[in-house]
Amino acid sequence: MTAPKHEPFPCLMVRRGDDGAISCAVEETTVDALPPGEVLIQVTGSSLNYKDALACRAHEGIVRSLPHVPGIDCVGRVVESSHPDYCPSDPVLVTGYELGSGQWGGFAEFVRVPAEWVVRLPAELTPDEAMTYGTAGFTAAQCVQRIVDHGITPADGEIVVTGATGGVGCLAVALLAKLGYKVAAVTGKPEQAPMLTRLGAKSILTREEVNDATDRPMLKSRWAAAVDTVGGNVLATLVRTVGYRGCITACGLVAGDQLPLTVYPFLLRGVTLYGIDSAKCPREPRLEIWRRLSLEWKLHDLEFLRREVALNELPNVVEQMLAGKSHGRVLVRPVTS
Ligand SMILES: NC(=O)c1ccc[n+]([C@@H]2O[C@H](COP(=O)([O-])OP(=O)(O)OC[C@H]3O[C@@H](n4cnc5c(N)ncnc54)[C@H](OP(=O)(O)O)[C@@H]3O)[C@@H](O)[C@H]2O)c1
Repeated sequence: MTAPKHEPFPCLMVRRGDDGAISCAVEETTVDALPPGEVLIQVTGSSLNYKDALACRAHEGIVRSLPHVPGIDCVGRVVESSHPDYCPSDPVLVTGYELGSGQWGGFAEFVRVPAEWVVRLPAELTPDEAMTYGTAGFTAAQCVQRIVDHGITPADGEIVVTGATGGVGCLAVALLAKLGYKVAAVTGKPEQAPMLTRLGAKSILTREEVNDATDRPMLKSRWAAAVDTVGGNVLATLVRTVGYRGCITACGLVAGDQLPLTVYPFLLRGVTLYGIDSAKCPREPRLEIWRRLSLEWKLHDLEFLRREVALNELPNVVEQMLAGKSHGRVLVRPVTS
């Protein structure tokens, strides 16, 4: 397989116009324009994550320079490799590192990346299954791994998941339920309760139920552990309501980046707050998470959770996500419709 060096291919490009306005639209580019790297991949799928939605708006904390192609994950086949570990036509995936932030990402038909970023697609996963997980599933699995490693068992009580209809949230619900935990799903979309129940949630709560407005340093114990994807006062409420020696995994900030807390939950209940980062996750645990997601933690029959969009449909879908109105997972095809 040789790379079509000068042949145009589609990508979603974020630009700043002469008037300073940010645009995000389908354009054509060529392999020659891609950043340097050891492995050139022909992308068959990517997925939409909250970070991508921010990148489509050229968020300064994510996008280093413009023009920029977002897409923090992708799956596809190797086209060219100067690294001995990869050969043309190998099925591979990439999540995190600088993909779609410091470097052009997966909302394109081709990406070029350092070999260190590349993960061989597990034989037990189809490309679409891999991107149904994508960065969201990889992050959810890291949260679940922390809870398991903390020693929390299903007998210890309920696990609460916030932002439950979102990408990370819904996959965390499904993974926890698969492992036998009783899951309470927190959502601002009560109409999506059937989806959450189908994923394994035992109870559905409103956001208000886990957003305590008092300044009490600790509240009645409710949960054995928590997966928080939203941050802010919701995360602070969870820290104050997790039971003795429980733990909270924190990965998101859609509800805020502040954490109004006292130290009492840590001192008096021995609560642990784990930060979760998926982008720089070291290679060994990274490969172990993908192994689990493809074998003993594999989630089957998730087609109902995902929908496919073409590159030109992404800007609208991004607006829905930023407004907190999307649910489930969005698979991105590097084509125009
Ligand atoms: N640390 C990492 O490595 C890492 C990796 C992946 C994602 N993240 C972060 O995790 C978060 C979720 O990512 P995602 O890709 O799953 O996003 P997503 O699909 O957009 O899901 C976010 C969900 O949060 C809930 N939500 C939205 N606005 C809210 C608000 N103002 N208050 C409370 N809840 C709100 C909504 O669910 P409900 O309607 O069901 O409540 C929404 O579906 C983001 O902050 C993202 O940046 C971090």
